[in-house]
Amino acid sequence: MKDFSFKLKLINELSAGSFLSGEQLGEQFGVSRAAIARHIKSLQDLGIDVYSVKGKGYRLEQSLDLLDPQLLQSRLNSPVEVIPVIDSTNQHMLGQQDLPSGSVCVAEYQTQGRGRRGREWVSPFGSNIYYSMYWRLEAGLPAAMGISLVIGLALVEALERLGIQGLKLKWPNDVYHNNQKLAGILVELSGQAGDAANLVIGIGLNVSMPEHVQGIDQPWTSLKEISDKQTMTRNDIVVSMTETLHNAITIYEQKGLQPFLSQWNHYDNFLDQPIKLIMGNKEVIGVCKGINEQGALLLDNGTSIEAYIGGEISVRSAS
Ligand code: BTN
Repeated sequence: MKDFSFKLKLINELSAGSFLSGEQLGEQFGVSRAAIARHIKSLQDLGIDVYSVKGKGYRLEQSLDLLDPQLLQSRLNSPVEVIPVIDSTNQHMLGQQDLPSGSVCVAEYQTQGRGRRGREWVSPFGSNIYYSMYWRLEAGLPAAMGISLVIGLALVEALERLGIQGLKLKWPNDVYHNNQKLAGILVELSGQAGDAANLVIGIGLNVSMPEHVQGIDQPWTSLKEISDKQTMTRNDIVVSMTETLHNAITIYEQKGLQPFLSQWNHYDNFLDQPIKLIMGNKEVIGVCKGINEQGALLLDNGTSIEAYIGGEISVRSAS
């Protein structure tokens, strides 16, 4: 990735809110007006709303709440890497060796953010949280299914600590509010049977999604729509998430899913409701009965309760 530090300085300067001319900016940074114009163009290409008014100069439509590497590192015990622009924070972490468990990577923008089932995760600059945490799971691959449910709960807890209410979970781990998706989780892993598993836990959380964003194929919401907590910053959210994830994974490693089951049922968006599971080209209809200790979804089909597990299952309301 190209060095983004000059553009970050430019963004910070424009964040003050008043118009700044290309000439002023050029003098301040010791570059030509044409160079400033080129940098502004590439910021606009990333979806950043930089206004340009003839005779006045440039201004940001909205000041950006940027991630602050020093602040984050001072508030967290685990290593944190803040990257302005990256293909995918998950991909970046998957390619690294010898990370300590709990290491975090966050980005302002992803060029190839990825979601579950091969979908794209739309990642506009500075608006949302694109977060990955590495964890070495000693219990190996069989324990990895349960962990993705625990992560959903930990994310809900992190947001509740910051005063957000009305959150729900859709199996296995989407965070919902009023039947609209607020956050998604993609756990990617490597490891061999019988060995520890290397997990990269990816979380995409909508914080301040631009209204006219394109390319999202399901109802979505973002924190700015559901909360009036004006003082909560993206840095606060990253800190809160990191703490609750760390705690929840540690408990899961010691005790498995059992301590989380009743909490999961409490947040289950579909508990006791008729739902449809879609597994590839197969569909099953039944009443949602929560999860079992392996993290499988339980479905009452009228004669028995069956457990369903596997990354390709998706849940849709049957009505
Ligand atoms: C989903 O489809 O619901 C899961 C979305 C996960 C998106 C996050 S954003 C940070 C991390 N990096 C990625 O490329 N994907 C995950």
